[in-house]
Amino acid sequence: MDSRKFKGIAKRTLIVLLIALVVIQFIHPAKNNAETLTASDITKAYPVPDEVQKIMQKACNDCHSNHTTYPWYSRIQPVDWWLNDHIQEGKGELNFSEFGSLALLRQSKKLKKAAKEVEEGEMPLSSYTLIHRDAILTEAEKQLFLSWARDLSQQIYAKVSPEEIEADKKRMEERKKQAEKK
Ligand code: HEC
Repeated sequence: MDSRKFKGIAKRTLIVLLIALVVIQFIHPAKNNAETLTASDITKAYPVPDEVQKIMQKACNDCHSNHTTYPWYSRIQPVDWWLNDHIQEGKGELNFSEFGSLALLRQSKKLKKAAKEVEEGEMPLSSYTLIHRDAILTEAEKQLFLSWARDLSQQIYAKVSPEEIEADKKRMEERKKQAEKK
């Protein structure tokens, strides 16, 4: 291909890309910012001390509740799609706004997992704390969250019926067997 022809193609490609970039600025996913708390919000279903609520507010709720506080750059695409992916994925795993509607055993397990994730520094996501510096938890904040989450997890577990625990154990064993077969 001679170089003039190549330049022509490169120029046209660039123009198409620029137009696409402009067009996607007008396309945004629905916002995840409900105004009112649902009845199944964790703060309505269980006692959550103010200090713990503050921690969840600044470090978890943007991705694990129906109440995201959007940063200014969410107005820029494709950034908003990327944020939305995290929110949808995070909420799919754990949504504190609907926590009270989960089965008790599941609630108990999710809280235990949350404590583990925070203890190991997996949550909040590092891509998040890179920008949200205030979401980096101090050792004291971590300990506060851990003891609250583990206490509540145990309290809830104590209310689960023995039959349910037995059925869950069977399910887990079954899953383990399936995984070993693979
Ligand atoms: C920037 C978004 C974001 C923030 C902030 C965040 N998470 Fe997550 N969280 C995710 C995503 C995405 C996943 C699913 C993928 C993964 O596990 O990495 C997840 C997974 C989890 C899981 C795993 C659930 C399971 O059953 O495996 C737990 C528990 C969790 N987060 C708790 C927390 C807690 C507690 C906080 C606050 C201290 C927090 N997360 C902050 C996005 C986030």
